[in-house]
Amino acid sequence: MRFVKEHVWFYVIALGLLIGVDAVQVYLPLILGDFVNAVTALESNVARYAYIYLALVVCMTLMRYAYRYILQRMALVFDYDLRKKTFSELLKVPNEFLYDYDIGDLMSRLTNDLHAIRQFMQMGLISLIDVLVLGVSTIVMMLLLDRMLFWYAVVPLIGVTIFTIFFSRYIFVFFKKIQDTFGSLTERVQEFLTNIRVLRAFGKGHKAIGIFESVNADYYKYYLREVRLDALFGPITGLFAGISTLLVIWVGIRELQAGRLELGTLVSYVNYIGLLLWPMMAIGFGLSNLQRANASMKRIEDIILAPKEVPCFEPCHHVDKFEKLEVKNLHFSYGDRKVLENVHLEVNAGELIGIAGPIGSGKSTLTKLLIRVLEPPENTVFVNGIDVRHIPLKELRSLVTYVPQSIYLFSMTVRDNLKFGNPTATDEQIWEALEVACLAEDIRLLPQGLDTLIGERGLTLSGGQKQRMAIARALLADRPVLMLDDAFSALDTVTEEQLVKNLVDYARLNNKSVILVSHRISALLPTDRVYVLISGSTKEFGPPAELIKQQGYLAHLYRIQVLEGLVHG
Ligand SMILES: Nc1ncnc2c1ncn2[C@@H]1O[C@H](COP(=O)(O)OP(=O)(O)OP(=O)(O)O)[C@@H](O)[C@H]1O
Ligand SMILES: [Mg+2]
Repeated sequence: MRFVKEHVWFYVIALGLLIGVDAVQVYLPLILGDFVNAVTALESNVARYAYIYLALVVCMTLMRYAYRYILQRMALVFDYDLRKKTFSELLKVPNEFLYDYDIGDLMSRLTNDLHAIRQFMQMGLISLIDVLVLGVSTIVMMLLLDRMLFWYAVVPLIGVTIFTIFFSRYIFVFFKKIQDTFGSLTERVQEFLTNIRVLRAFGKGHKAIGIFESVNADYYKYYLREVRLDALFGPITGLFAGISTLLVIWVGIRELQAGRLELGTLVSYVNYIGLLLWPMMAIGFGLSNLQRANASMKRIEDIILAPKEVPCFEPCHHVDKFEKLEVKNLHFSYGDRKVLENVHLEVNAGELIGIAGPIGSGKSTLTKLLIRVLEPPENTVFVNGIDVRHIPLKELRSLVTYVPQSIYLFSMTVRDNLKFGNPTATDEQIWEALEVACLAEDIRLLPQGLDTLIGERGLTLSGGQKQRMAIARALLADRPVLMLDDAFSALDTVTEEQLVKNLVDYARLNNKSVILVSHRISALLPTDRVYVLISGSTKEFGPPAELIKQQGYLAHLYRIQVLEGLVHG
């Protein structure tokens, strides 16, 4: 509605043109009738009727073009704006929101639902206005011309309306089914293509074909149903219109013979039936278009009106340097699922901190809470003594570089990927970071070096190379705190040891703080303090050298991995 208000003049002009077209349309049959009457009365100057008719038709064509152009253009503008708005709002929703919707669902909202709304703005609106203007004026004209014939004409046409409502409802149901199956079809194709190597390695290609075949067959089946119904539409409406015309001509000719009706009036009448046919269909189309657009608008509003990530809760405090990060008595759940309980942690400027713990103990969750990728409860996470919820997100995140557990690199050159967190980095700085990350050698061996394209259309990096790229990228961002979530898991022990040593030297030299989530005792040993998370609580913490002397988790890890080291050595 707000959109219509903003562009009110376009809509007024379009509406004016539409009314003009409809007025001409309603007038044309009358001229035709007069023409016939003039011919039957053997008047001399009959050609002028033809000229007027021609002039009006040309005029109508131009106006019709103009209003269609305006309305369709407005629909496109609306679609463009709404898409932009939905997308930008989607970027502002908190991560928790994204867990509630799967990607396929959001995709379909951003494509199918926006499409349904545009369709309504484009054609649905025209149909409904047309019904009112053209439908009502045609009916008035018909009633003025002859009341008795009116009923013969209109009763069969009501059949058209009923059929159209029924038709669009079913077409919509089928259409949704088709869209859904098409969604799963694309999803399957995507899944198979990404995992094609795994499928081949397990020799499961034929299974994949079987699954694909069944989705493909569903798609065919639902489309066929739609086609069957769609093919029926033209003939059925034609049938009703035919019955209506036949009845009017039949009764009309009897009236004509009785001298109660002129031939011209009958000709006008038959023409009005043709005119009325469209509004009778348009009621059905317009209403179902409206319903669909309404349902789609609700789905779009789910995104637009969703609570947004709050950049900073009031009162807002600014931080410009990092002194201290503290976690006090932190509890956290995903919905009903408790993940963290009574967690404590402290990181001072320049300290190296390790976080260890079994799989699924909440380590990644904890790291995400520290920089509000997930929203921590009030008074649990503090930077420089200020609750992180009261620090502008931008400032908070400019203090910490976060290397998440699952790494994403863009389909760009190595250089552009590395410069992602620091667009002004020089090649010299890039090579320095690559050295620390133990990746310089690998990049030097590439024929195009830093200019090598990686990703889908370029070079595929190994898991370990990806992790080192992500670390180099993080180092370049050059923020006071570096947080690595299990970032060495794909490295061999030799590279890992070198990398840990480089990182420790780098951090000590530049007075950086490091938070290191790891399962590897070799990465945890050089830290100042290790916190062990067991089922979501910090059960043990302290300098690693002390922890491995006790009987806890870290000591256990130490025994296993040192033993393993012996075996391997
Ligand atoms: N988005 C989520 N929604 C619901 N539960 C989640 C979500 N993410 C993680 N969990 C659950 O929270 C628990 C802790 O997960 P988390 O990823 O923090 O563990 P982790 O210690 O990092 O494990 P790993 O060592 O495997 O990386 C797990 O039980 C996991 O299933
Ligand atoms: Mg994890």
